[in-house]
Amino acid sequence: MSDTPDLPVVERRRTDGTPADRTIPPAELDPLRAPTDRPIVIAANRLPVMRTDDGWSPSPGGLVRALYPMLRESGGTWVGWTGDADDAAEPFSVEGVDLHPVAVSAEEMELYYEGFSNDALWPLYHDALRESTYSGEQWDAYQAVNERFAIALANIAPENSVVWIHDYQLQLVPAMLRRQRPDLTIGFFLHIPFPPAELFTRLPWRDEIIQGLLGCDLIGFQRPKDAANFQAAASQLLDADTDPDGTIRLDGGTTIAGVFPISIDVTEVEEIAAGRATRQRTSQIRARLGDPEVIMLGVDRLDYTKGIGLRLKAFAQLLEDERLDPTRHVMVQVATPTREAVEHYQDERAEIERLVGEINGRFSRIGLPVVHYLYQTLPYDELVALYRAGDVMLVTPFRDGMNLVAKEYCAAHIDGDGVLVLSEFAGAADELTEAVQVNPHDDRALQDAIVEAVEMHRHERRGRMEGLRNQIRKSDVQGWAARFLAALDATTPTTTP
Ligand code: G6P
Repeated sequence: MSDTPDLPVVERRRTDGTPADRTIPPAELDPLRAPTDRPIVIAANRLPVMRTDDGWSPSPGGLVRALYPMLRESGGTWVGWTGDADDAAEPFSVEGVDLHPVAVSAEEMELYYEGFSNDALWPLYHDALRESTYSGEQWDAYQAVNERFAIALANIAPENSVVWIHDYQLQLVPAMLRRQRPDLTIGFFLHIPFPPAELFTRLPWRDEIIQGLLGCDLIGFQRPKDAANFQAAASQLLDADTDPDGTIRLDGGTTIAGVFPISIDVTEVEEIAAGRATRQRTSQIRARLGDPEVIMLGVDRLDYTKGIGLRLKAFAQLLEDERLDPTRHVMVQVATPTREAVEHYQDERAEIERLVGEINGRFSRIGLPVVHYLYQTLPYDELVALYRAGDVMLVTPFRDGMNLVAKEYCAAHIDGDGVLVLSEFAGAADELTEAVQVNPHDDRALQDAIVEAVEMHRHERRGRMEGLRNQIRKSDVQGWAARFLAALDATTPTTTP
């Protein structure tokens, strides 16, 4: 592999030779407008399917549910990795959607996926910096896999179609694809935060990443701050022209940085929550936990950005200070296994499991642990039943692009009750203003927020939950996808005959 070759200068001209310079500020978008009548091609690190005993079936998850029906209708395609090393699967189709696997070798899995994506970019983008571990070898693999995605897309995408690329693993793809296929309309959505320029500029390949993303017509971010950080980085590093409306101009090309907070499939969660099986399961869960007065719940991927350890410490301190009572208050922590080959994730798991053991050893009674810890991937129905059982939901990440668990919890509480404690550093905090918001770095504030939630009067709980549920119903994941695609479609100048 070559040593950090120059990326191509972003050449931003349409097939008719006109520059792509039409700007549509996000504020002007009509959420009801049909997204686009052009074919859509999605690219994401992972394909939206999982292997089952009977072949492949769509993965659970809001993004897949939002995009699958659209792809089916538009005859669309999804390009991505199967998740297994050296899996050179042929293109196949599931429920009417064409899937094009991109092969990732065992070595690339280590360097591109575990290394550059999840050990270099992930902590940098989540303000979770430890010592610098930037490696040229990992960067080479990141470029090589991004190039492979770009080539696959260039070969597959129909003339003048819309290509929507997702997340931090594929930031170089837009410019690589633009160079090969100037006819395409290219969008990108960053699911995680974009860091402040002062942090981002630590990255040795900072210019290349910005140039890669500027191959897009539209880049979507979760929060206004993310879009502003990106604009600042483009301006400082590449001297790009930036406007307050989100327009970025560089080398004759134009990109819009817009804000599109992602959401969940609200109807689906509500339907599962209302089902008889869920109601029965919720009662069963409460009974199994010893029918405590208050069930506190945490549901996270086991990631060091999620603040699980500090949450457990806050709970332990409250038991120690007798502000909580182990006979009345229990905690359930679901930690979904993720990126288990990455050392920082192994360290985090060891620390969480040590804390759970310590707290249970100290405060549990025979047959009644005070912390119920599940290091498992639970089926979605089971999660919704748990959400319903949870009287207080603790979502306390140090930094999070959005955090859909916070939204799922509110959608599942069709009984109108339940309290959400939410970190102000989760993207969801912008919208979920009726949550008890907290700075999770402040241990006393976190303890007070938990007590406030536990002791909150029923009247206040219900008022806040009504506000949260109304907010969530205003924007579900289908609306999110439609708004992004409408905005992307609108970046293409209409050609006059
Ligand atoms: C986050 C990222 C996604 C990623 C997911 C699961 O939500 O934004 O891009 O797919 O975590 O992580 P994994 O490494 O298992 O794909």
